[in-house]
Amino acid sequence: MKKILVINGPNLNLLGKREIEIYGKDSLKNIELKTKKFAKNNDIDAEFKQSNEESEIINWIHDCVKNDYKGLLINAGAYTHTSIAIFDALKAIKIPIVEIHLSNIHKREEFRKKSFISQVADGVIFGFGSYSYILAIMAIKNLLTNKNV
Ligand code: DQA
Repeated sequence: MKKILVINGPNLNLLGKREIEIYGKDSLKNIELKTKKFAKNNDIDAEFKQSNEESEIINWIHDCVKNDYKGLLINAGAYTHTSIAIFDALKAIKIPIVEIHLSNIHKREEFRKKSFISQVADGVIFGFGSYSYILAIMAIKNLLTNKNV
C-alpha cells in the first residue's frame, strides 16, 4: 500500500460545528474515516493530521520524504490565502501534491480567490464538501500511477 499524508490546517478541527451551511455537517473525524476507507480500497494508506499552527504544518511537510509519504493532500484552511512559508515548504518537497477545499473558494469573499498553494500543487479540488477529499484520493492515485510511484 502506498502511504500518503493528508494535512488539515487551522479551524478544520471544528468541522461539523463551524459554518455548517458552508462546510457541511461532517466532522473531521468522519471525513477521515470515509476518506481512509475509500483510500484503502484503492491501495492507499492515508494518514490524517490537523493543526492550527503554521510551524507544525511546515514541519510535517518537511518530514514527508523522510517518513516515506508518496503524496500529499493539503487543505491549509485560511493559510491557503496567506502563507508564503507553507508555499516555500511545499516547493522544497518533490512529491505529488493535491490542494483540497470543502467550499468553492471562488464563489466566496475576494480574499479567498488567492491561493499560494495552487502555485505549487499538481492540482486543486474544491467545492464538493467532504467529497472533495474522496476526489482528491482519486486524483493522487492517478498522479502516483502516471509517475510510476
Ligand atoms: C477552506 C477554505 C478557506 O478559505 C477557509 O479559510 C477554511 C476552509 C475549505 O476547505 O473550504 O478554513 O480551506
